[in-house]
Amino acid sequence: MEHKLIYADNSATTPVSRAALDAMLPLFSTGYGNPSAIYSLGQEAKKCLEASRRKVAAALGARNNEIFFTSGGTEGDNWALFSVCEQYAPRGRHIISTQIEHSAVLRTLEKLEERGFEVTLLPPAENGMVSAGDLRRAIRADTILVSIMTANNVTGTILPIKELCAAAHERRVLFHTDAVQAAGHIPIGVRETGVDLLTISAHKFHGPKGAGALYARVPLIPFPLIFGGGQEKGRRSGTENVPLIAGMAAALEEAVQNMEENNRRISALRDRLIAGVLAIPGTRLTGHPEERLPGLASFVFEGLEGVEGQNLVVLLDREGICVSSGSACSVGSVNPPAPLLAMGYGQKLARSALRVSLSVYNTGDEVDRILALLPGIVETARNAGRPGF
Ligand SMILES: Cc1ncc(COP(=O)(O)O)c(C=O)c1O
Repeated sequence: MEHKLIYADNSATTPVSRAALDAMLPLFSTGYGNPSAIYSLGQEAKKCLEASRRKVAAALGARNNEIFFTSGGTEGDNWALFSVCEQYAPRGRHIISTQIEHSAVLRTLEKLEERGFEVTLLPPAENGMVSAGDLRRAIRADTILVSIMTANNVTGTILPIKELCAAAHERRVLFHTDAVQAAGHIPIGVRETGVDLLTISAHKFHGPKGAGALYARVPLIPFPLIFGGGQEKGRRSGTENVPLIAGMAAALEEAVQNMEENNRRISALRDRLIAGVLAIPGTRLTGHPEERLPGLASFVFEGLEGVEGQNLVVLLDREGICVSSGSACSVGSVNPPAPLLAMGYGQKLARSALRVSLSVYNTGDEVDRILALLPGIVETARNAGRPGF
């Protein structure tokens, strides 16, 4: 029997929702005006852009003038960090972040170090949490920015952003959060947490790739990284990508409206998956046992020494199942997921990591099929790792 593809890598990207597609399609064919043009076709596009801004602002509990459109999470993170450093350097040159951030933050921090900023990366606890106490101890008189993610992309652990943000604000330090994995999946109201800057990316919540937003709390105004025609109130030049922005707004609005109901269903599937995978001997769940994203579960497998989690990914792919190893490939080598190393997993165990991330489109039958196949696949991979095999 031919099995349908099972897509269980929704932390990498998600399929576009019907609502997002319906919002986008007419904007490619009939509503294609340039929002800066003064004739009606352009003004219609402008209206659509501003309606999208209102939807994104409402979903985040922000004001319309606090939302700036971007090309996605990487740009949002770069923009937030460079912008604060550019504007606040006269006050100090120290930034605090964590060892478990996405490379969009970590690589940007490296660039800032090359420009004379000093960076402290807080270590996570074994369960992936970052503590407000550690943050308080790290803040110095010259600290200008704290950047800590809302939810981790490898383990799914949700961090105590409200508490961490309060710790930064006690010392009048700005707080940015990379909410790319959290937006559309858990509540991230900016007034509730108090964050100053926040990054989201559409393709993680059933919107299109290449669209995102940066929230910057009034009176903060992001310093531009892209110069030209003065779009986005002079903060990000370039003709706005109206179709993708409208798709993002529709996807986010839908995700927030259906969040509770979706999460009940998704987390039940996730818990079934976790129970089934942990029944395989020598398997461990990574990250915090309770404070985790509804759809994400990540495991390590003992006895896979010498075998990458990537082998499991390939073996599952042969069965039509898409999951991820959480490892980052660079030229000629595979790096184990950095957050797992930071959490104290050894190189070998971290290399065996497997991340399964579910969405509202997954079914119980799909989880059952993964659970039916995985024990045999782990066994095959374990045997392949033994000397003389
Ligand atoms: C936590 C986190 N931040 C940033 C990004 C980058 O987002 P984008 O792919 O939209 O550039 C990702 C994507 O995987 C992510 O998981």
